[in-house]
Amino acid sequence: MNKKGLFITLEGGEATGKTTQIKKIRNWLKENKLPHLITREPGGTNTAEKIRKIILSKNKPISIETEVFLIMAARIEHINSKIIPALKKGKIVICDRFVDSTAVYQGFYNSFGINEIYKLHKSYLNNFLPKLTFFFDADLNITKSRIRKRKNRNKYDMTNDIFNKKIKRGYYKVIKSKRRFKIINASLSEKEVFKSLIKEIKKII
Ligand code: TMP
Repeated sequence: MNKKGLFITLEGGEATGKTTQIKKIRNWLKENKLPHLITREPGGTNTAEKIRKIILSKNKPISIETEVFLIMAARIEHINSKIIPALKKGKIVICDRFVDSTAVYQGFYNSFGINEIYKLHKSYLNNFLPKLTFFFDADLNITKSRIRKRKNRNKYDMTNDIFNKKIKRGYYKVIKSKRRFKIINASLSEKEVFKSLIKEIKKII
């Protein structure tokens, strides 16, 4: 395996099955004795998890600028204190969401600007990017019924079709020019989705 480690991210709308697949990937990495770190955004460190609560809270509205800079602050903390040290040890780092989520949710959906997000990422985060990004594309009727069943919904866990369609459209705008993306048909069975993820991971380890 690449001694410098490997950084992989998972992206997609609400309830597209990322979390379930991350658990399966974790087991696969364990079984294959591959050193790894599984993490998520916003979050991943104590400070960043506190910031996550603020960002996703339904009760405390914050401006889009505040939201973007809080996410960036959490990301700086996460990259420097967790992701880079793990990569330096040669680990495979799997992160549930990263900068592309900011580009889609804050940049596109909340109109901050997709390019503005990547510009900030370039200036303040040294354009630190994953080697591979899986985009989970699932049928919106499937995700809608999953979201309905959720007990604790965050502020973006909406069953509203306009929101979910816009998020998907945002991802396709972001993906367009980026070769690191691999689109996954997340409407398939858990087993089939897992198989295609592992096939791609195996190509680069
Ligand atoms: P999840 O962990 O269940 O996917 O939820 C995280 C939520 O945070 C999801 O609704 C998307 C949102 N989010 C943003 O709005 N911007 C970001 O930069 C990130 C990483 C997540």
